[in-house]
Amino acid sequence: MYKILEKKGLTINQTMYKVEAPHVAAKVQPGQFVVIRAFENGERIPVTPVRWDREAGWVDLIVLTRGKTTKRMEVELQEGGHLLDIAGPLGNPAVHFSGKKVLSIGIMTGLVETLPIAKMWKEEGNTIISLHVTPEPLVILKEEFESFSDRHVVDAYPMTETWMQDMVTHAVESTKKLIEEEKPDMVFIVGPTGVQYAVFNVVKEYGIPMEVDLHPIMVDGTGMCGACRVTVGGEVKFACVDGPAFDAYKVDFEELIKRNGFYSKQEQYAMELYLKSIQGGAQ
Ligand SMILES: Cc1cc2nc3c(=O)[nH]c(=O)nc-3n(C[C@H](O)[C@H](O)[C@H](O)COP(=O)(O)OP(=O)(O)OC[C@H]3O[C@@H](n4cnc5c(N)ncnc54)[C@H](O)[C@@H]3O)c2cc1C
Ligand code: FES
Repeated sequence: MYKILEKKGLTINQTMYKVEAPHVAAKVQPGQFVVIRAFENGERIPVTPVRWDREAGWVDLIVLTRGKTTKRMEVELQEGGHLLDIAGPLGNPAVHFSGKKVLSIGIMTGLVETLPIAKMWKEEGNTIISLHVTPEPLVILKEEFESFSDRHVVDAYPMTETWMQDMVTHAVESTKKLIEEEKPDMVFIVGPTGVQYAVFNVVKEYGIPMEVDLHPIMVDGTGMCGACRVTVGGEVKFACVDGPAFDAYKVDFEELIKRNGFYSKQEQYAMELYLKSIQGGAQ
């Protein structure tokens, strides 16, 4: 059991959980993730430690409410309560280098996963241009990114009915603009796969190296179940043990987009049933 030391709503649907997890805090490196199980018989979901204190033994998780499990966490987990399991740290740490100018892009809550990585790259002697593309009500971590980035740009747009399509347009336009203005040596992106793919199609026109953190569905996070299978460079890779970061030029984005949508009906149904149950309707 892992105690929730603090729970804080950051925006309408993003929640920060400070969790006591000494075994994770002691070893986690930027780029790694954990798999948590919050409830008895509940599903396991991968999330990313965004800050940690090795001596005090805590990690911060920032979670977007998307479907049933993250909604249930938002509603039912309270400060002083517990997560049942935290497995990790898992996956490979981010790569180390110095002397480069990096355009680090976070789409919506994907920004939180870029935080420890971009901070580390800055400390290692790189120039960090960070970009956050998000509907305006979901702007987060602005001051924190401004405190270490050489330049932090927030492209926040109105949350209208077309906000998901608008995300692609804004991500593409802002990326183009920053490539023209800053001439980065490398681009890194975390966010929905469709947006990553659209941004990659821009970046490749400039021939700039690009890394993507991939988000296939994960179950065990240890290379055993095969759920997170992705095709990279024509070979089958497991994002949990071979990634989560990969060379964007080698990723089969179209296959990943299809695979990620595979359970969307079931995910929607599970969410509807949960919402009804907490409103006192169907069980
Ligand atoms: C390495 C990694 C790190 C991540 N870090 C964060 C983070 O720090 N903060 C955050 O808010 N989100 C993070 N995510 C995404 C998060 O795991 C999903 O949003 C979450 O699992 C959704 O669960 P749900 O039951 O609420 O929604 P569901 O209704 O189950 O799914 C909604 C969407 O989430 C995806 N998803 C569902 N289950 C999983 C799963 N087990 N693994 C991966 N994707 C899944 C589905 O493809 C779907 O598009 C990360 C994902 C990966 C792979
Ligand atoms: S999550 Fe099971 S193999 Fe990667």
